[in-house]
Amino acid sequence: MTSRLIRACKHSFAMVLFAAVQHTAVADPLAPTGRWSAYAAGRAATPPMGWSSWNAFGTDIDEDKILGAARALVDQGLAAKGYRYVNIDDGWWLRRQVPDGQLVIRSDRFPSTVRPGELPSFRSFTDKLHAMGLKAGIYSDLGRNSCSQAYSPTDTDLPQGSVLEREVGLYGHIQQDIALYFGTWGFDFIKVDGCGLRAFGAGSEKVRSGKYRELPPLLNMEFVSRSDIPAVQGLFREINDALVRSNPDGDFLLSLCVWGAGNVRAWGKDFGNLSRTSDDITPSWSRMLTNFDSTAKRAFYAHPGSWNDPDMLFIGKGDFDVNHLTQARSHFSLWAMVNSPLFIGMDLRNAPEPLLALLGNRELIAVNQDPAGHQATLAYDSHDVQMLVKTLSTGHKAVAVFNRGAAAIDVDLTAAHMKFRDDADVELVDLWSGQTHRLRGTMKLKIAGHETLVFRARGTRLLPDGLYLSEQPGHVNPAVDGVAQPAPDPTIHRSAAGWQGTRGAGERPMYAGWGGVQADSAPYGEALAVKGRHFATGVGTLANSRLEVRNAGYRRFSATVGINDSARDPQARATFLVYGDGKLLATSRALKWGDAGERLSVDVAGIQLIELVVRTSHAGGAELPVTWGEAALLTR
Ligand code: GLA
Repeated sequence: MTSRLIRACKHSFAMVLFAAVQHTAVADPLAPTGRWSAYAAGRAATPPMGWSSWNAFGTDIDEDKILGAARALVDQGLAAKGYRYVNIDDGWWLRRQVPDGQLVIRSDRFPSTVRPGELPSFRSFTDKLHAMGLKAGIYSDLGRNSCSQAYSPTDTDLPQGSVLEREVGLYGHIQQDIALYFGTWGFDFIKVDGCGLRAFGAGSEKVRSGKYRELPPLLNMEFVSRSDIPAVQGLFREINDALVRSNPDGDFLLSLCVWGAGNVRAWGKDFGNLSRTSDDITPSWSRMLTNFDSTAKRAFYAHPGSWNDPDMLFIGKGDFDVNHLTQARSHFSLWAMVNSPLFIGMDLRNAPEPLLALLGNRELIAVNQDPAGHQATLAYDSHDVQMLVKTLSTGHKAVAVFNRGAAAIDVDLTAAHMKFRDDADVELVDLWSGQTHRLRGTMKLKIAGHETLVFRARGTRLLPDGLYLSEQPGHVNPAVDGVAQPAPDPTIHRSAAGWQGTRGAGERPMYAGWGGVQADSAPYGEALAVKGRHFATGVGTLANSRLEVRNAGYRRFSATVGINDSARDPQARATFLVYGDGKLLATSRALKWGDAGERLSVDVAGIQLIELVVRTSHAGGAELPVTWGEAALLTR
């Protein structure tokens, strides 16, 4: 070999090595970044509130109905209480003009959009809403076609014209449509549905009939492995680029609506302000349970700026109408506790007074809108009764006791459920009745069928000089949650969905996210315990995870770490690492199943972002449950 050749070989070897090192550095998702990575664009410091046309009217919408809702929000005082977004859902479009791609509004339904000699525009409509102190929302789809085009039994309210003219969705038109909605028409909110990516495969009846073009599905409700997650994320990324471009002041909201498909319950928080965790709600108790469950164990996946969305309120119809105030209050209480967006879904032009009062309950709204943004976590869980506890910015707690069943049930609410000492009084204010109570240790409650009691609670904290991480999920972001093979969560209530009757084999678990990061519990619903020591408090996750933790001025991070007793492989080892603003602060020993927990106590004074990483070399990509026991941020 000539020396030139040797030099060249050495050079290319060095290049390959360099590239490999670089590649590893970039590709290692557990490497600290020093950066909070959950979605922070748009304007959703607290969960958005407002009204949406879908549950009240479906596609049968018009200007009177929508402006009527807007006027009612203002006149009934609901707007002043925070209900500000007035959202047009599916059904507003007539067609997409060919070849320039301009969207045409159903101006027979929206007369104020008519402009002689020009295409209709929503500008004067949004101006009207803005002049009322409200915000305006619009609806589109990730694919070429919308959900009503996929599922409506009739063509009555659907876009008209040729196949191409009926392609009203964002696919292939993202920049153009977003600029129209936000720049030209002045909307402030967009809900982006996903049916266009789900229902127009070659085999679908819609495509076979020749009425719609085929779009090979990127989303699949049945099997998470059949969704093309990077492709769906790529579309949301493009939508985000367009939103930023069309909203120089940053005043927008992006609502993701892929109904818990494609493991979105793990990544929606990185792509939009609200993200649907399940398929559509209906006005049935059983369906409400499904939607609630799809959000209830996802507290760590929601933060100020990016909220879990169990769908719009169905108060005003069916099981939640004025004859079912207990159920309606429960629905509202649960949505408030899990920091759900609060979108009213009833015709507000003739809403019964008791329902308006219910929706206007200032105390419940304040729980939902609490600026700390911590979603409630489950302090007690069973198929019959659940207790949800939410840390408020005042340091007090909101606690909800929820009877899922139809029969009354006896409940022991304890100070420990709220992480309060049981040797000191806890003051409770019932946020529905206004009554106050005092609890010492335990309070016995009888909860009527389908009832939810919600209290604001003030007590003496078990941890006097800090906050457990499981009390502040809004400050903890599972950037990487260690779930190797996303699988459907079998604990979500499987309601018999009304839209298809009971044909077929029944409902199967379908919402991936099983095994994600949990408060005061190990993943997969098991207890937090290391070598037989149980932790009532802590964060349960899987190894190969990285949690970002916002530090609001605390001086010390402490936790007892170890392999959770629920691990299946006694040989697996994991190492726990704590980083502060990207720098390594502490490392545990390589711990294996059966080792006692190791206590870490780390100085984090002045640090903005802590990252908690667990690494394992566990073979075969098998998942290893690990525990950050009693993980807390302390003032000293
Ligand atoms: C989907 C969504 C609903 C609604 C309809 C409109 O089903 O999940 O919330 O927007 O589409 O067709």
